[in-house]
Amino acid sequence: MPLSSVATEANEQEIPYYESVGNECTMFEQAFQQRLPLLLKGPTGCGKTRFVSHMAAKLGKPLFTVSCHDDLTAADLTGRYLLQGGETRWVDGPLTRAVREGGICYLDEVVEARKDVTVVMHPLTDDRRLLPLERTGELLEAPDDFMLVVSYNPGYQHILKSLKPSTRQRFVAMSFDFPPPKVERDIVARESGLPLEQCSALVNLAASLRDMKGQDLEEGVSTRLLVYCATLIHAGMPILDAARATLVEPLSDDADVQEGLMEAIQATFG
Ligand SMILES: Nc1ncnc2c1ncn2[C@@H]1O[C@H](COP(=O)(O)OP(=O)(O)OP(=O)(O)O)[C@@H](O)[C@H]1O
Ligand SMILES: [Mg+2]
Repeated sequence: MPLSSVATEANEQEIPYYESVGNECTMFEQAFQQRLPLLLKGPTGCGKTRFVSHMAAKLGKPLFTVSCHDDLTAADLTGRYLLQGGETRWVDGPLTRAVREGGICYLDEVVEARKDVTVVMHPLTDDRRLLPLERTGELLEAPDDFMLVVSYNPGYQHILKSLKPSTRQRFVAMSFDFPPPKVERDIVARESGLPLEQCSALVNLAASLRDMKGQDLEEGVSTRLLVYCATLIHAGMPILDAARATLVEPLSDDADVQEGLMEAIQATFG
């Protein structure tokens, strides 16, 4: 896989919109200043990725984001020799670039990555802050403005796919959840353009749908899906069609569960 496809560099000019819900912005800034790595936990679509892009832009640091998957190896992060115009040339991976140039490296869904990724994370996430590149023989020392941020969703992981204590205990960690109703309403309104009042109704509906999590649903409806729903309604889709396509179909394939969700939606909007 070409390295460019796993890494995206953020535009430093604009600060992406992020509504804070607690002390997470201060905690991030402190961790950055104290050169501590950060672990974010939380359900899908609750704002983890947006938070990291917001903070990177606020601190004026380049962001190297890697979406981890079960084929991702240490070499995808550190780099590899590639054949270019008949010559083999070493090309830095996103983690190595962040260490060399300074910046924030964000490993999203880190538990998905192959085991050898922990081998490169460990010396970087304790007080050594070192990145050994076996293939080039280099030993890179992370600059003061390097920060490693990782995130995962503790909800649906297989037991074998959790982080080892020796990895977890190298990070300052924070739990994310869906924002409180007023904040979520503001987020949905700002992201979709739908008036506050209608967003408020959607957020209240989300609370009752989230109560159905557990018995039949793996995850409660995310802030992301609420934004989708509001966006479709704002664009002129009938409310029940928008709700079915964003708050029912993405959550379950089971006809009974879908019916239960639809009933709750009709009770609010029918
Ligand atoms: N606090 C927030 N401020 C602004 N927007 C938010 C916030 N929380 C959620 N959102 C909205 O929800 C969407 C999803 O958030 P995001 O992509 O950051 O989720 P995530 O936690 O990274 O999910 P996943 O675990 O699936 O990657 C964002 O695109 C944004 O529209
Ligand atoms: Mg994300």
